[in-house]
Amino acid sequence: MSDIAKLQIGDNSYEFPLVKGTENEVAINIKTLRGATDGVITIDPGFKNTGSCESAITFLDGEKGILRYRGYSIEELAEKADFLEVAYALIFGDLPSKEQLEKFHSDIKENSVVDDDVKKILDAFPKSAHPMGVLSSLTSALTAFNPGSVNVDSEEDMYKSVVKIMGKFPVLVAWTMRKKQGLPLNYGSKSLGYVENILKMMFEQPNEDYVMSPILKDALDKLLILHADHEQNCSTSTVRIVGSSHAGLFASLSAGISALWGPLHGGANQAVLEMLEAIKEDGGDTKKYMAKAKDKNDPFRLMGFGHRVYKNFDPRAKIIKLAADEVLKDLGIVDPILEIARGLEQEALNDPYFVDRKLYPNVDFYSGIIYRAMGIPVEMFTVMFALGRLPGWIAQWKEMRLNKEPIGRPRQIYTGENHRNFKSIEKR
Ligand code: SDX
Repeated sequence: MSDIAKLQIGDNSYEFPLVKGTENEVAINIKTLRGATDGVITIDPGFKNTGSCESAITFLDGEKGILRYRGYSIEELAEKADFLEVAYALIFGDLPSKEQLEKFHSDIKENSVVDDDVKKILDAFPKSAHPMGVLSSLTSALTAFNPGSVNVDSEEDMYKSVVKIMGKFPVLVAWTMRKKQGLPLNYGSKSLGYVENILKMMFEQPNEDYVMSPILKDALDKLLILHADHEQNCSTSTVRIVGSSHAGLFASLSAGISALWGPLHGGANQAVLEMLEAIKEDGGDTKKYMAKAKDKNDPFRLMGFGHRVYKNFDPRAKIIKLAADEVLKDLGIVDPILEIARGLEQEALNDPYFVDRKLYPNVDFYSGIIYRAMGIPVEMFTVMFALGRLPGWIAQWKEMRLNKEPIGRPRQIYTGENHRNFKSIEKR
């Protein structure tokens, strides 16, 4: 393949360099397009064909169902690593040594205290508030309690910001859930691991010694790893573009949480459970919901199905589906919702509408079944997605700033009124 792309507009032809990645992906670098063509730009709603950056963090191949963080396959990481190791690899570029991991965890614990005045903000929310809205607000509020923007060119400064947010975010997640439940807001324990402390802060009951479940710890570790990064998805692109104005890390993460909240994105895991519950209430009539999903006049979509990039099975869904079986069996739970999910999947995988459009189960289709088995309320499902995605967002924000990328400011094609003169109100 030549290393240029040719473009013909009218009688003029133009050449643009090709960019090739380490996995042989190819892009046309059009940064000179508008100047060279006297104003012509490209347009690509939803950026389905447009790359926003070059990145060394996550590689995925949607046709082959491949997902790797820093070159490590998601299958190996889910099987052999723990979440903190994966977070370190995403943020700093490779898996940590034993000493690096111990220091990372110790520094995180030292920075996990949240200013008690944050509880006053939490008190102001009605119990009916959706946890994603609460979490986005509290994350943004962290800026007020940790003033001073991070100097990204200082490794020490950047590291301090990373351990601060990695320490405080799980506390905000646990407090968000427990506030809704009317339970005391507590902290983890110095003797416990990162994921174990998340479970303890979320589920510890007053007047009871919290008994750690290895099954829940392993399940949560795996789920957080599987959600940790996913290249330039909607919320990560949000974190990058907000950060490109040199807004702070916490402010950029708060914006990412809001983007993830949407039911077409991370909010789908909650929508999947609500859909499966509705089918169950409706007598398990999956065919009715399949028909609704295919009806162009019906806004209903089969939640947890389809993906912008995966036109094959989402590799994360495969792992989560197996884990759902294991966790429910280990916990001795028989959940009819799992059977409904399996039935829906089988129907969709054999239905031309879904097959022709390459619509397969995505990361959100089975994850809620595990969260529910763990005793996590359905409204907290997308918060758990954000908890997993945190290191990916941090890594992507850090890369964007270290690469000194310009402020994100897309162009447009104007389709409104041509020039017209002002009319006084009497003449309108
Ligand atoms: C995540 O980008 C990421 O990486 C995201 C994520 C991550 O880790 O960050 O992987 C996490 O967000 C997973 C996706 C969770 N969302 C859902 O499960 C919601 C249901 N899925 C859809 O809304 C949809 O599939 C999207 C939003 C995920 C993808 O939408 P696209 O790529 O814009 O595709 P599209 O809407 O143009 O659909 C193409 C066709 C359309 O039909 P036609 O107009 O061609 O006839 O497929 C149809 C759509 O109507 N379609 C569906 C469908 N998804 C697509 N029809 C019914 N049910 C669905 N779920």
